[in-house]
Amino acid sequence: MSHLIAPSVLSADFANLQRDIEMINSSEADWFHVDVMDGVFVPNISFGFPVVEAIKKHAKKPLDIHLMIVNPDQYIERFAAAGAAVITVHYEACTHLHRTVQAIHATGCKAGVALNPHTPVALLKDILVDLDMVLIMSVNPGFGGQQFIVNSLNKIAELRAMAAMVNPDLLIEVDGGIGIHNAALLLNAGANVLVAGNAVFAAPSPTEMIAALKQVEGRLVQHG
Ligand code: DX5
Ligand code: ZN
Repeated sequence: MSHLIAPSVLSADFANLQRDIEMINSSEADWFHVDVMDGVFVPNISFGFPVVEAIKKHAKKPLDIHLMIVNPDQYIERFAAAGAAVITVHYEACTHLHRTVQAIHATGCKAGVALNPHTPVALLKDILVDLDMVLIMSVNPGFGGQQFIVNSLNKIAELRAMAAMVNPDLLIEVDGGIGIHNAALLLNAGANVLVAGNAVFAAPSPTEMIAALKQVEGRLVQHG
């Protein structure tokens, strides 16, 4: 599988949301990355159901919903009804993570689990087989436009090795501080879904930036 590009709507112009959604529709992007923040789990508030529903109304590609909220179980069915294809919850926000993952699957959505930069990937060992995706946060969640945390590369490689045993089709998504300068490193470490907010929306041509991220070469070719 070639890697997927998921532009983060958080960096879009909310006064021109339909225009920015149409830009993603007609680009080489694969998913819409949709960041929901509650002001409790993270020190920022983004948007809720009305905006997700408005995005869904115009989006022609799957919605990848990243829930940075406490008690995500309470809202899974509503996000599924609002149009999610993938629902990702934070490991740090779920006491009964296995139950939460089951609840996501019961809606028909793919289930992802996100890890904050300080959370070791080893903690996912006994749930990895049940997941469609793991999201490695490569910044502290809450804001776009932050600097990439380099240790994320070690986490991706460790997770890819763990997944090879039990879940070789696992999607590994990386989110935060991603751009053309580090995309190849991330893919080579084992990631296959790249989120990009600022890199796309602050580019002179967001469409061309998406195309450039999509065309980055993945795995290193082994010679000899
Ligand atoms: C951060 C969000 C990200 C954010 C990424 O908490 O989860 O999805 O939009 O933005 P950039 O690519 O600008 O770091
Ligand atoms: Zn995100």
